[in-house]
Amino acid sequence: MKKLSVYFKMLSILLFMIYGTVSKAQTLKSVANAKGVYVGNIMGNGFIANNSTQNGNLNSIASAEYNIFVAENAMKMDAVLSNRPANPFNVQISDLNKSNIDKFVNYANSKGMKKRGHALIWYSQAPQWLLNESPSWSAQQIYDFSRTYITALASYTKDSIDEWDVLNEAIDDGGSANYRNAWYSKVNSEANNNGQQGYITYFGSLFSWARAAAPNVKLFYNDYSIEQFGTSKNNFMRNMVKTLKENNTPIDGVGFQSHFKMGSNGMDDSFINQVGRSIDDLATVNLDVAITELDIRLCGSGSDAQQKSAYKRLTKTVLSKPNCNTLLVWGLSDNNSWIPAFFPGCGSATLHNSNYEKKPAYFGVLEGLQELSEVSGPVNSDDVSSITAPNSVIQGATVTVDVSYSSSENRDILVVFQLNQAPWTVYSSVKKDVVAGTGILNFDIEIPDNAPVADNSYQFQVFITTNNGDWNAKLDSQAKENVDVTGIVAQAITNGTYFIKKATANLFINATAASGSTNSVYNTSANSAKWVFTHLGDEEYKVENVAYATSRLEVPNGGVGRGEKVATTVWNGNRDHLIWKAVKIGANFQFLPKHDQASALDIWEGNNSVHLWDKDAGNANQIFALVGVSSSRASSDLISKKDKKVLNDVRFNVYPNPASDVVSIVLQKGMKGNVSVTNMLGQIVHKGNINKDNGIYKIDVSNYKSGVYIINTAIGFKRFVKK
Ligand code: XIL
Repeated sequence: MKKLSVYFKMLSILLFMIYGTVSKAQTLKSVANAKGVYVGNIMGNGFIANNSTQNGNLNSIASAEYNIFVAENAMKMDAVLSNRPANPFNVQISDLNKSNIDKFVNYANSKGMKKRGHALIWYSQAPQWLLNESPSWSAQQIYDFSRTYITALASYTKDSIDEWDVLNEAIDDGGSANYRNAWYSKVNSEANNNGQQGYITYFGSLFSWARAAAPNVKLFYNDYSIEQFGTSKNNFMRNMVKTLKENNTPIDGVGFQSHFKMGSNGMDDSFINQVGRSIDDLATVNLDVAITELDIRLCGSGSDAQQKSAYKRLTKTVLSKPNCNTLLVWGLSDNNSWIPAFFPGCGSATLHNSNYEKKPAYFGVLEGLQELSEVSGPVNSDDVSSITAPNSVIQGATVTVDVSYSSSENRDILVVFQLNQAPWTVYSSVKKDVVAGTGILNFDIEIPDNAPVADNSYQFQVFITTNNGDWNAKLDSQAKENVDVTGIVAQAITNGTYFIKKATANLFINATAASGSTNSVYNTSANSAKWVFTHLGDEEYKVENVAYATSRLEVPNGGVGRGEKVATTVWNGNRDHLIWKAVKIGANFQFLPKHDQASALDIWEGNNSVHLWDKDAGNANQIFALVGVSSSRASSDLISKKDKKVLNDVRFNVYPNPASDVVSIVLQKGMKGNVSVTNMLGQIVHKGNINKDNGIYKIDVSNYKSGVYIINTAIGFKRFVKK
């Protein structure tokens, strides 16, 4: 496998050298992303139920071409509220059919698509029970039903829907337009309990309820035959939304459905310019426009080429308007278009034919998008550009992963520490919100104690996902693979400086020379009686003298057995006779030379000798207490589980952790003041002062011995490990 991929890499490098650059084929989505606009389509119920329906063709087109989606029918009231709620004047989230909504949202999230919600209040596709009952409802009951329905649905979908059509098709089609007669029309002829009456008051309330339930969602009025400036329905629509705006209704835009037809009425330049003019006019009252349901049907007249041109001119015209950045087509292919059923004799209205092939119309939209001017400023894509993470981590440690990214809008960066093989167990994950732009983030990842020790078996995976999406909603990712987990370095003796004292007497082991000389048993507090213990793993230690720095406690020449002298040597190789195995006996220790573990370090004050004697846990001459040099505490305790929790205080960030040279503290408010580092003996090894609320405070730890340290600041403490 590896070989093969190396081969392909070389081949592609070669191709790259031959061809210069390799560019991917452009899709509607890739061009839309580059131009900062959204181009979308619908998901019908069949596709929602089974994403691989129609041989996967819909999924292929949807994934490749579009960056915004709407459910064709699944979020309409007849689908969401098919059963009469127990109390229709107090609709609850539990009354809603949510499974198709969830599937729609999950699919769109998995592709990083934006989502439109269609439609909250509409005269059509309302449930039969509502159409039967509502004529007998009072205006107040219509208000109550509408308020609780909108509140339940919009608060359920909350931020997983980006835009809602709050009100759909409220204007009729007559020669002179007016409000459409609908199941809610009593609000116009009868006042509610607050004395409110009229469509405008009711419509305004619909938007306010939606805003209250889902404050981050853009709210639209959506209709058809409103696109062309100056027609009766267009005039009525513009008056209506301007009145709503004047009444401080939280409406953000108007959806132009745009169910158009080739042929007699054109799609000529003048028609398209009138559409543009409507968009400009709405901009004057700060309303956006989205083209929400575009199809251009052929009904006997009009060629493919004319249809292509219509799609192209329309796309370019509307999307070059500053207040219009969204265009959705109504149908993923001609097989999936409502047109033949609703407009007999018409069809071929979408961008892909019945064999899911791109039609000239498709290239019309593509070219229209390509001809849009580049959006000003750099357009960010959604990328994890690079990650820095350790190759090896220790159980229980907190490590830092640095991520640089770029995001096109509000996104999440998710860092996961997991197995890099089945079953891909996730041991820890951290997520942060980012806004559009580029940046570098530091993540503190806690490696749990229960991550099994293993070499090359873990990875840090970093994802950029849609806002609130899980890893499935990834837009890009990068991994640092083959990471090791090593065990907590449990050691009975914390690295540090100790007197080696006979447990039952006031006698200490004392060095009398740097090298080669016999040690003495002596009651002293001199530096020559101080020994520096360093754990080498597996309870084996090197033991160096303080007075004769770097001189090590040893058995000269690796002699073995009873009576063999124990001395010091300047020789520093890790030969077994320079290494001592600690055996814990209660609070005390026995020390065995590594090369001769049948013998133990032994002192006999009778002739002042320090030597080996037969290992015997009952022999008091072999039982030593380690007395910490700068504290009276016998410092042999392990860090207990309980202490570890306390030590994992995460009120500030420290990186890298474990560290070898420099530890950086990420400063935050409240940290001004003293800062110190203590080792596990409670000895202060660094003192300093923090004088700012942000930035970095660095500590040189290159000379620290391996082990665990605590950084103390005004807001708490944090543990780090020196490698
Ligand atoms: C259509 C759907 O495409 C059909 O499947 C359904 O049977 C009827 O509705 N205006 C709208 C859309 O707002 O919801 C309609 O969708 C098309 C007209």
